Amino acid sequence: MAQITTGLRRVLNHPHVYVVTQRLLTSDRRTRHWVEQILRPRAGQRVLDIGCGPADLLRFLPEVEYVGFDSSADYIEAARARFGGRGRFEQARVDAATLEGLGRFDLVLARGVLHHLDDAEAEALFRLARAALSPGARLVTLDACWAEGQHPVARLLIARDRGQNVRDATGYRALAARVFDEVRVEVRHDLMRVPYTHCSLEASLAP
Ligand SMILES: C[S@@+](CC[C@H](N)C(=O)[O-])C[C@H]1O[C@@H](n2cnc3c(N)ncnc32)[C@H](O)[C@@H]1O
Repeated sequence: MAQITTGLRRVLNHPHVYVVTQRLLTSDRRTRHWVEQILRPRAGQRVLDIGCGPADLLRFLPEVEYVGFDSSADYIEAARARFGGRGRFEQARVDAATLEGLGRFDLVLARGVLHHLDDAEAEALFRLARAALSPGARLVTLDACWAEGQHPVARLLIARDRGQNVRDATGYRALAARVFDEVRVEVRHDLMRVPYTHCSLEASLAP
């Protein structure tokens, strides 16, 4: 079992496999719903996508000024090949230097990233996002999440995830609250075709 899990994780590092797997597990309708209800991007906004992966989320965004970065060179190459005209894509890790010269953003998002980061790295991501936000802007994150009473299949899938720092909603909220004044979390069980649990988090600074 451990060998199968390791093999699957390795295969997911291939951008096309990752995108196809995501599309099989979720659906455009579900993603569009989350984008409309939680992310709420508006045309013309400056959007920073931390850990953007192959940037498949761009399919659901209006015409925005998009900057995405990710530690994976393969994912960034795939993002540039598919969406090169729609944004700027950089290979970089979560690090203050990554943001130098990029200015401020109306919306910062990190979808599926926090559960890859230990607490110190996650706090660094929140600080980075805080520094990148324009006044009144928001950070939105979405991650796998432990929850009481969640479906056993969800627990199994989450336990096998490449990210080994999955937390419950209280854990995600506590990390964000180290850096942000206002933090809202929502536990969702409906964002995938298969049983799965997500923590959707919105963070902002006091006006
Ligand atoms: C589950 S994928 C999500 C990709 C994309 N945000 C999406 O929603 O499809 C997590 C991404 O975080 C990236 N990542 C993990 N740790 C990172 C770090 N320290 N700095 C930048 N990117 C990181 C990985 O390379 C991967 O692309």
